[in-house]
Amino acid sequence: MSVMTTVTDEELISLTHAILRRYGIDFTCYESTSLKRRIVRALNVLKLDSTHQLWIRLLKDRDFIYPFIDEVAVGLTSMFRDPILWQTLRREALQAIPAKDQLNIWHAGCSTGEEVYSMGIVLQETGIISKAKAVASDMSEAAIKIAQEGAYHPLKIAEYEKNYATYNPTGIFKRYYSVQTQGGKMQAELIRHVDFRFHNLITDPIKEQYDIIFCRNVMIYFDQAAKIKLLDQFYQHLNPGGLFIIGFYDALVPMISKSRYKYLNLDAKIFQKI
Ligand SMILES: C[S@@+](CC[C@H](N)C(=O)[O-])C[C@H]1O[C@@H](n2cnc3c(N)ncnc32)[C@H](O)[C@@H]1O
Repeated sequence: MSVMTTVTDEELISLTHAILRRYGIDFTCYESTSLKRRIVRALNVLKLDSTHQLWIRLLKDRDFIYPFIDEVAVGLTSMFRDPILWQTLRREALQAIPAKDQLNIWHAGCSTGEEVYSMGIVLQETGIISKAKAVASDMSEAAIKIAQEGAYHPLKIAEYEKNYATYNPTGIFKRYYSVQTQGGKMQAELIRHVDFRFHNLITDPIKEQYDIIFCRNVMIYFDQAAKIKLLDQFYQHLNPGGLFIIGFYDALVPMISKSRYKYLNLDAKIFQKI
């Protein structure tokens, strides 16, 4: 089978609009260059020759959309990547949030859960995990399943252990997981306080209010109009004094208004709602 290497603008437009009409899944506001690249990768993995073949497959098998979404949407993640973020949360940012009995946290676009468990460990280390209630959402069902399971391959655990040591050289990462045949399973307390759910940031409504919203390395795929809309929604759903945290490569800083947010720590990409 020949391997497809390009997707044209016309193919992209017709495919994304057809998927939106048939499934209500909106890829039309994703940034086109990276979406094309991801579709090419998905076609290769799913062993399809062209977007036309993909569409035929989707017409014959309605459920084929799920492996397609997983290939297109799922991205890289890691525990304790960007140590400055986790250090800043532990040392100063969490203390800057107005005191409350319950701390509501949302990981929007949580992928396979590594960001959620990094935060869980920081919450334990600051002694506030018992009052934390987190929602972790993603548009990939497969990613959510892995996140909820909280079990990672030994090679990944080894990588996360190294990242953790950069974040906290005196801490002991082994305390946070148990060794199983298939790898490391995160400690029950780190899983228990999290509600893992399917949620599409483009099409699904946001209902709750939060004290911390993480949306890291997700909006990078969205076009300008989608970014503006989502940033506005995050602002509406964040409590005053709450933290908004973005990814290091999101290129969103100029869009985060200083009349809405204090730049609490720009290096860590943490913003506090005024
Ligand atoms: C690169 S991962 C980021 C994971 C994590 N936030 C981090 O930075 O480590 C991007 C995630 O965004 C999710 N995603 C992309 N578009 C989405 C959408 N419209 N709604 C919800 N999640 C989305 C993908 O499924 C993927 O799991």
